[in-house]
Amino acid sequence: MNRIEGRVKVTGLATYAAEYPAENVAYAYAVQAQIAKGRVKRVDAAAALELPGVLAVLSCEAAPRLPEDADPELALFQRREVAYRGQIVAAVVADTYEIARDAAAHVRVDYDADDHDVRLSGDHPGLYQPEVVNPNFPSDTDKGDVEAGLAAAATTVDVTYETPVLHNNPMEPHAALALWDTEGRLLVYDTAQGTSGSRDTIAKTLGLPPEQVRVVSRHVGGGFGSKGTTRPQAILAALASRMVGRPVKIALTRQQMFDVTGYRTPTIQRLRLGVDGDGRLTALEHLAYEQSSTLVEFAEQTATPTRVMYASPALRTGHRLVRLDVATPSWMRAPGECPGMYALESAMDELACAAGLDPVELRIRNEPETEPFSGVPFSSRNLVGCLREGAHRFGWRHRDPRPGVTREGEWLVGTGVAASTYPARRSPCQAVATMRDGDVLVQVAAADIGTGARTALTRIAANALGIAPERVHVELGDSDLPRAPVAGGSAGTASWGTAVVRACEELRRDGKEGRADTTDEVKADAELARHAFGAQFAEVRVSAVTGEVRVSRLLGVFAAGHIVDEKLARSQFLGGMTMGLGMALMEETLTDEEFGGFLHRDLAQYHVPACADAQHVEAVWLEEEDGELNPMGSKGIGEIGIVGTAAAIGNAVHHATGHRFRELPITPAKIL
Ligand code: MOS
Repeated sequence: MNRIEGRVKVTGLATYAAEYPAENVAYAYAVQAQIAKGRVKRVDAAAALELPGVLAVLSCEAAPRLPEDADPELALFQRREVAYRGQIVAAVVADTYEIARDAAAHVRVDYDADDHDVRLSGDHPGLYQPEVVNPNFPSDTDKGDVEAGLAAAATTVDVTYETPVLHNNPMEPHAALALWDTEGRLLVYDTAQGTSGSRDTIAKTLGLPPEQVRVVSRHVGGGFGSKGTTRPQAILAALASRMVGRPVKIALTRQQMFDVTGYRTPTIQRLRLGVDGDGRLTALEHLAYEQSSTLVEFAEQTATPTRVMYASPALRTGHRLVRLDVATPSWMRAPGECPGMYALESAMDELACAAGLDPVELRIRNEPETEPFSGVPFSSRNLVGCLREGAHRFGWRHRDPRPGVTREGEWLVGTGVAASTYPARRSPCQAVATMRDGDVLVQVAAADIGTGARTALTRIAANALGIAPERVHVELGDSDLPRAPVAGGSAGTASWGTAVVRACEELRRDGKEGRADTTDEVKADAELARHAFGAQFAEVRVSAVTGEVRVSRLLGVFAAGHIVDEKLARSQFLGGMTMGLGMALMEETLTDEEFGGFLHRDLAQYHVPACADAQHVEAVWLEEEDGELNPMGSKGIGEIGIVGTAAAIGNAVHHATGHRFRELPITPAKIL
């Protein structure tokens, strides 16, 4: 199917959060902390307030009080303490955006600055073992005897990889419009990956009952995790609107997004692996070091994919966290799996090289019977199928295994492989399906963040009802609709789709209306290891003159259950793989160690792949039937595309050049 909203999007008729018209609207602009740690001593708003058109200046000296238990990243203007450079410490509200932005520069904030610490290192004295990592996994797991396994191995590797701070850069920057009605009910048009949870968060932060808040988010220009939790713009718009008694709109600049909408934690990851003479793992250890803020413990589950990938009699994983004077890290496409699999799949390649084994074969030889750490059976697992299909399509058997031997003029050519994985989850969801003049209206508070959720749900409903998709109308993106989880964790379609199918089944019985709540169904899911798998193959050309790396071919083969819509799925896989290409070669946000905050803060400095960088990216999938998932038989596809891509490219760079680059991104400066 073509995207239902494709036409309104490309003709500019789709309305995004910042674009909703509102009568008598005012505009807010944030003032950000210029120190990395300390206290606001004094806020002098006089000069700003004197400017014509300025309505109010919010700060810790002038703002509505919020409940004590609000999320400290969202509880704006409640405390004098500064936790990181770039934190919102004040805001100007004015008649126009331009006046607000100009006046913000006239707000004088004086600070008492303390010494700050913004640098993650593997020997930081503040490192500790978190109790759990996201969403609720034990931090450390230990099975068998790693030291004995390494001692008995024929070949071992002990390698450390580093990944930088990475930032989501959706096309649509974060924005919100807040309106209070005369009964004190708050309506927020927000850029959000979900409206039900966001409604609850906004209500809790403001000390309101949830039914007094409505969040609308009909079109979202990408999120990747940065809109998965409520971000400060929604709260700022609501507070400012309450202060001035007018609707208030706020649109963050691209630079502000880098400071206040989360980022992927940098990681340092140490891997120790051993294999016996037959290429079977004797030990596998994966330890990840990462950071969080002083405000909130956000512990990325970086080493958890290693618990599901390969059979090994000894398997140890762990996480160490340090709380720095930085913004709180957050979700970025495949949080955990993406950086974790970069390290694991790079180390597997190093092990294959050291043991003189083909890297595809090494993975196949260590295919487990059950999920390696838990011992739980897989609902389905087709990693080996993906590796074989990919190797066949990619022409892997023609590869000369020796690194650094293929050269075409100035170009060194190499190929690499890596595996992908991502959990297949679903969450409780509600939906309603109603007959309307012979057509069917499906309502669910799902979010379409550019994935094509409307289109996928239309197909799912049409299938469930046995009618043409043209007769189905899906309404989403509004917290007044039946409660739904976020577009996140690659679980949107599985969660919403289950509720939509159940509502449609009920409608078939009833003839007029069907209502569904999948809470009990999801709770009844038997304990099985449910994951999508994939294999990524990359061919790179590395210039011996300039050090630039060109990815001339990228092939991803995925096994992700039933594919609900081929066009949408392909787009998700290609998008993920392209984002992985960015991670491998260009994306990086440097932290300013002297002053705190980030040095890379816009698209001129934070490089994402352009069309010319994605030369030949191909995604295919295996037919996979899995009756243990959901009524569609689908696994999530939004994130697995990014998992493994960076490792495949890094492994190909090694094959081309003979050098291992263990710190991402692999830029020309590092190559030369
Ligand atoms: Mo995605 S990082 O689960 O929004």
